[in-house]
Amino acid sequence: MTLRVAILISGGGSNMGALVRSMEGEHPARPCLVVSNVPLAGGLKKAETLGIPTACVDHRPFGADRAGFEAALQEILEAHTPDIVCLAGFMRILTPDFVARWEGRMLNIHPSLLPKYRGLNTHARAIAAGDAEAGCSVHMVTAALDAGPVLGQARLPILPDDTPDTLAIRILPFEHQLYPAVLRRFAIGDHTPVILP
Ligand code: GAR
Repeated sequence: MTLRVAILISGGGSNMGALVRSMEGEHPARPCLVVSNVPLAGGLKKAETLGIPTACVDHRPFGADRAGFEAALQEILEAHTPDIVCLAGFMRILTPDFVARWEGRMLNIHPSLLPKYRGLNTHARAIAAGDAEAGCSVHMVTAALDAGPVLGQARLPILPDDTPDTLAIRILPFEHQLYPAVLRRFAIGDHTPVILP
């Protein structure tokens, strides 16, 4: 059975692109939908170019009504019947209720070596702490932010002249390797962590 994968984005969608391109040939899954909460997200155009159905649920009209936003998101997701939901640069915090609906079936990529630096500004925090290494993690999404079981990590040295921007640029290609590698395993029920390089 070929599994269906929905990908949630907020921005440029480079991780989404890497995931979509990986799902071909013998891969056990195929992309079924890309959803953005940001109407002008560059990733939406990218997904259209790749031939993937797209949707947008703008969070702004919902204001503080997170449940309303998530109900709209849930409706679109359910219409496309995904087996797996991949958060790929999706920058909204999801409520425990929403996470519970997808628990065990939802993955996220986070630009730090979890459990270090959950939340935002991960690269600046790693540099400020004097860390020797930085990296990225793919984890299962649970109700606590960036705290679910880690399914893969890639690490690289922090260079003396690194800034948060240079580090982000150097980590991104590792993200593009790691996330597809984890998804491929996850899709066959293998939760053995992927360790790169
Ligand atoms: C990626 O670096 C991803 O790890 C990060 O946002 C970027 C999205 O880039 N995600 C988070 O910070 C989640 N908390 P992309 O849109 O080009 O994939």
